[in-house]
Amino acid sequence: MHVLVTGGAGYIGSHAAKRLAQAGHVPVVLDNLVRGHLQAVRWGPLVVGDLADPTVLEQAFHSYPIEAVLHFAALAYVGESMSAPADYFRNNTTNTLNLLDAMRNHRVNVLVFSSTCAVYGNPLRQPITEDTPAAPVNPYGESKLMVERMLHWHGEAYGLKWVALRYFNAAGADIEGELGELHDPEPHLIPRVIGAAHGAIPALEVFGSDYDTPDGTAVRDYIHVTDLAEAHALALDHLWKGGAGGIFNLGTGRGHSVREVVQAVEAVTGRRVPLRESGRRPGDPPVLVAATGRVRTVLGWQPRHSTLPTIVETANKWHLANSAASIMTLNAASIVALRAASTAAADAASIAAEDAASITQR
Ligand SMILES: NC(=O)c1ccc[n+]([C@@H]2O[C@H](COP(=O)([O-])OP(=O)(O)OC[C@H]3O[C@@H](n4cnc5c(N)ncnc54)[C@H](O)[C@@H]3O)[C@@H](O)[C@H]2O)c1
Repeated sequence: MHVLVTGGAGYIGSHAAKRLAQAGHVPVVLDNLVRGHLQAVRWGPLVVGDLADPTVLEQAFHSYPIEAVLHFAALAYVGESMSAPADYFRNNTTNTLNLLDAMRNHRVNVLVFSSTCAVYGNPLRQPITEDTPAAPVNPYGESKLMVERMLHWHGEAYGLKWVALRYFNAAGADIEGELGELHDPEPHLIPRVIGAAHGAIPALEVFGSDYDTPDGTAVRDYIHVTDLAEAHALALDHLWKGGAGGIFNLGTGRGHSVREVVQAVEAVTGRRVPLRESGRRPGDPPVLVAATGRVRTVLGWQPRHSTLPTIVETANKWHLANSAASIMTLNAASIVALRAASTAAADAASIAAEDAASITQR
């Protein structure tokens, strides 16, 4: 089936698009390329446009026989959300309403949504079950929680079938080396540690080394992006076959400290990671680890690549093969060319992936 993948040019969405194609589906990517990369769209058509624009959505649903949606498109940096909350509520929450309207207009009623463990805030108990009260401590988490509530009511009123996957820390890169993480700036720990090991950044800043954890640094639950992509395929299948939707944590149930991550990167790269110790960041909980019983039991999901060595090896391989700076430059040039082409075509915000690739090569 044709599946709309919003944000499919981004880190997790591109891995999910690849997984959909492997399952025989056609991923139709809709992305404004603000934080995504043309090079990451390889398994189906690309609609370049913004969820804020209902005509773009209309065109996507009109042009392709879409039967389900994976909704990744969002702004996703906690720190940024603290200084620009309006951008987060507008892009993550209001724009999702546009998507839901378009789905309803086109009688598409299956949706898998990218939610986040940030909805839990600073929970008292670990591991965190889905029944832990949601109490976000930043606009990012709040903007995602509001979407979850919208999905619930769309289910009640319009029969929307939905799954919200609350991801913990996505990490690693495509096992075959075709995709990886490329954010600018890059706020996520593992690519930053790898960058520090290879000298791309002068030193890794460690925020807090006096937490009540075994080595004093913060503990997080890292899940390999390929395992995340697999969970989307399973969730889609589950909903399609009439399974009950709802909220699922997506993590491994095992936490690793910042120091453990640093050691893993040093072991894989054979290089020392320069560290700079800083104070705790406000709002950073000491430990965030998922209780994973529900996703394993209901969706039959199992992490297969989410060990720290595999996460670091795949991420490091990607880092070495893809100079972030050169890809960013190439991407920026491609987007300029693409936008010019789209404007000239006036009504054509939609282009085939082949066209995108040829513009990229020029
Ligand atoms: N990376 C993580 O560890 C993590 C953890 C929890 C949840 N999530 C969620 O997973 C999703 C994907 O995260 P990611 O790390 O791949 O982010 P990303 O920034 O790499 O990808 C997001 C994509 O959405 C696109 N986009 C944003 N706003 C858009 C709009 N209005 N219209 C069209 N396209 C738009 C961007 O250009 C980008 O390609 C997000 O919803 C994020 O909140 C990520």
